[in-house]
Amino acid sequence: KTGELWDQYGRRITYLRLSLTEHCNFRCQYCSPAEGTPYFEREEHLRPDEVHLVLRSFQALGLQHLRFTGGEPLIHPHLLAHVRYANELGIGKISLSSNGYLLDRLAESLAQAGLNSLNISLDTLDPDKFRQVTRGGTLPRVLRGIDAARAAGIPRIKINTVLLRSINGSELASLVDYAVARGLEIRFIETMPLGSAGSGSQEQDYLSASEARGIIERAFGSLLPLANSRDQGPARRYTLPGGYGSIGFITPISDNFCATCNRVRLTATGRLVFCLGQEAGMELRPLLRSGMGMVELGKAIAQGIWQDKPERHVFDQDRKRSSKIFMMRLGG
Ligand code: GTP
Ligand code: 5AD
Ligand code: SF4
Repeated sequence: KTGELWDQYGRRITYLRLSLTEHCNFRCQYCSPAEGTPYFEREEHLRPDEVHLVLRSFQALGLQHLRFTGGEPLIHPHLLAHVRYANELGIGKISLSSNGYLLDRLAESLAQAGLNSLNISLDTLDPDKFRQVTRGGTLPRVLRGIDAARAAGIPRIKINTVLLRSINGSELASLVDYAVARGLEIRFIETMPLGSAGSGSQEQDYLSASEARGIIERAFGSLLPLANSRDQGPARRYTLPGGYGSIGFITPISDNFCATCNRVRLTATGRLVFCLGQEAGMELRPLLRSGMGMVELGKAIAQGIWQDKPERHVFDQDRKRSSKIFMMRLGG
């Protein structure tokens, strides 16, 4: 159909995850190489006007949800301007995934710029383990950031916890308590084998969502399923006995959700990536720099999605096959 984005498997694409930078002030074990991300020249990044043109093209093709990711989007100088721009365009839902480190400073401005929802990573409540998993991050400041986001009134705040046996395997109940006490949804995520996460110690650290659920149920009793809709994200959601809280499990490894995928990703350097498990994609930067207008760019994007969005990602059950691209460049 014209005016909408569809792939050849009958999925309509209404959700863009836009990575503003591949850099981050943390270097989490499962996301980043130990030495940080490779340097890209300034000209290799999309300029603000180029990002805006991409957004207009997507908007004309029925975009309903825009999520800013990274790296860490809060370190990007144009983030607030981009959030405002997306709002002016009338994109229905504007959200952001962050490590929370700069939120104590930025939460208020983000709320004013019109951010509708915010996902914050929090893998442990133990400062030493936090430093270990983020390779140097400081926990108290992130916790202050979470409080600042709540105080600023950002509507939907979710906590993302990547499941890692040695980091949080014995802490799942405390993390649930932390989130539920603050009225925040918490989602436990199976580690995907991307970049360095595909190798070595990560393999032994893998903790499945079903085991995590068992641990949580031993502490709180049986979880009750909540209604799930795809626009609430990839998580299967539950509540504690008595209807308290919202606890989600994101299971890309044990049970992928590719059949209802509605999303594509754009890297900071302008590569449109059709699936998390796929490194190839479509370079939009040359198109933008050849002077393409909104309509033409939209047509090119629509054709790329139709031809090249794969049916599903290829991480298999034994987690051996993985993509070499780091999560850091793809924004999760
Ligand atoms: P909403 O759908 O807006 O709630 O966001 P989200 O939960 O998809 O976003 P977030 O950035 O918080 O990501 C949470 C986890 O889901 C991260 O580990 C992502 O890598 C993972 N994720 C998001 N989209 C996909 C996807 O299409 N495929 C896979 N395999 N994982 C995804
Ligand atoms: N597997 C699963 N989730 C990951 N994230 C980053 N790297 C991985 C990985 N290898 C998560 C972060 C963040 C979200 C955007 O993606 O924890 O919450
Ligand atoms: Fe940074 Fe988030 Fe990746 Fe950690 S998971 S290195 S905080 S982008």
